[in-house]
Amino acid sequence: MRKKVIAGNWKMNKNAVEAENYINELKELVKDSTNEVVVCVPFIALCKAINAAKETNIKIGAQNMHFEEKGAYTGEISPKMLRDIGVEYVIIGHSERREYFNESDETVNKKLKSAFEYGLKPILCVGETLTQREEGITKAWVTNQVRLALDGLTNEQIGNTIIAYEPIWAIGTGKTASSEDANEVIRWIREEIKNICREVAENVIIQYGGSVKSENAKELFEMSDIDGGLVGGASLIAEEFAKIVNY
Ligand code: 13P
Repeated sequence: MRKKVIAGNWKMNKNAVEAENYINELKELVKDSTNEVVVCVPFIALCKAINAAKETNIKIGAQNMHFEEKGAYTGEISPKMLRDIGVEYVIIGHSERREYFNESDETVNKKLKSAFEYGLKPILCVGETLTQREEGITKAWVTNQVRLALDGLTNEQIGNTIIAYEPIWAIGTGKTASSEDANEVIRWIREEIKNICREVAENVIIQYGGSVKSENAKELFEMSDIDGGLVGGASLIAEEFAKIVNY
């Protein structure tokens, strides 16, 4: 049985003190959950969040990283820096990074390899635009993103990659993919992983993301292939995020 992983992605929201208060509130609300609970906070809030999450079942993640360990990359944060302060998870290749910060399948692939090298658990994001869905190329697009991202990873690394299927048209729009549509794309992703590495495909955790909220979490997460969610807006309020975790 695959574990459900419910991760919050705060994006560019909350400062360090707000993060600490949030974790202190959330820890009581999710303490009995058997799901993996992850909160991905802005860089400047990581230390306080990690401290507040000590001796709880909440794991802290970053939302991005550079693929190099160090060097002349002004403004960037390295995987080693994240690991050194106790970060466990890192989101790689979110559609907002691909769209606004020129992340390509190639840099996403480099970042995935680097995340594993430094002991971070990557959450790889893939997903199609509305135009691509209307053109009927969702399957080709998403499976290609997955193939390019996983290129050159070991079987073990592939097995340990969490994938978040996030249709871009469902992000922050209030429009959720139907649970059947989301499940179908996630099955395609799993089939693609089978083509790459049959042994681990059934173990790979594949989440859904895009307007997940407490009202739709149960229906989505109970689908056969949806192993939890990557939650944006609804993760900003501890009480609402806890409802999603405890769906
Ligand atoms: P929303 O839940 O706000 O739609 O955001 C989804 C997302 O992008 C999570 O990474």
